[in-house]
Amino acid sequence: MRDVASTAQRVLPRNDPRQYDDLAGEWWRPDGAFAMLHWLAEARAALVPPARSPGAVLVDLGCGAGLLAPHLAGKGYRHVGVDLTRSALVQAAGHGVRVVQGDATAVPLPDGCADVVSAGELLEHVPDWPRAVAEACRLLRPGGLLVLDTLNDTALARLVAVRIAERLPTVPRGIHDPRLFVDARALVAECARHGVELRLRGIRPQVGGLLAWLVRRARGARTPGTPSTGRAPRIVPTRSTAVLYQGRGVRRG
Ligand SMILES: C[S@@+](CC[C@H](N)C(=O)[O-])C[C@H]1O[C@@H](n2cnc3c(N)ncnc32)[C@H](O)[C@@H]1O
Repeated sequence: MRDVASTAQRVLPRNDPRQYDDLAGEWWRPDGAFAMLHWLAEARAALVPPARSPGAVLVDLGCGAGLLAPHLAGKGYRHVGVDLTRSALVQAAGHGVRVVQGDATAVPLPDGCADVVSAGELLEHVPDWPRAVAEACRLLRPGGLLVLDTLNDTALARLVAVRIAERLPTVPRGIHDPRLFVDARALVAECARHGVELRLRGIRPQVGGLLAWLVRRARGARTPGTPSTGRAPRIVPTRSTAVLYQGRGVRRG
């Protein structure tokens, strides 16, 4: 297995956060290297109900360039984004996110400040993910909602999300270190330890939509400048949590 990410600029180890700087121009390109994050953000936002009170806060851990923001529009939250990567935060701020540069394992925000905490495609990038889970739960007010999605620590996830997906234009090469993938049972247990009963469901891109997108993308690559048309692939529930899964849980009051 390749253990490096090669971009036009430089070669970096797997999961090296500097990859996000090298790929900074990709975040908001709908057919760019982070395309799948857009599809996942839409699916994650669908788990978030409208805010119950004015001024409700959603803390978006590992917010990247703020791809969740358009999908929260009209739900009434103050969207606060926390991320390590400055180049991503600059873009998130441009999309209305109030940004905080910081580590998800030591978030510089007070206990119970959030009505909702989102951790989308974050935990599988954090070597000490239980610490990040503890922080997510600490930030939640009693009754607050945790939503997340991540990759499972299974052979199938390593095959699908690394060996296959990183050869497709849906996932940047070298962005994942499969040793960091998150065992679903351990995640549920860790959330329970911090007062959140997490319910999981498997998710995947809808196959027909994904194939149509890959064909459009390949045609676009052959004729640069052609605007991409057609709907982005939808993320749909699937029975198995063995590869990609969402979690949703409320903090005990
Ligand atoms: C795969 S991206 C997901 C971004 C965003 N949640 C989304 O779905 O569009 C992972 C993000 O996590 C950030 N990240 C990785 N480790 C982090 C940490 N320990 N603390 C905060 N952010 C981190 C990276 O900078 C990157 O922006």
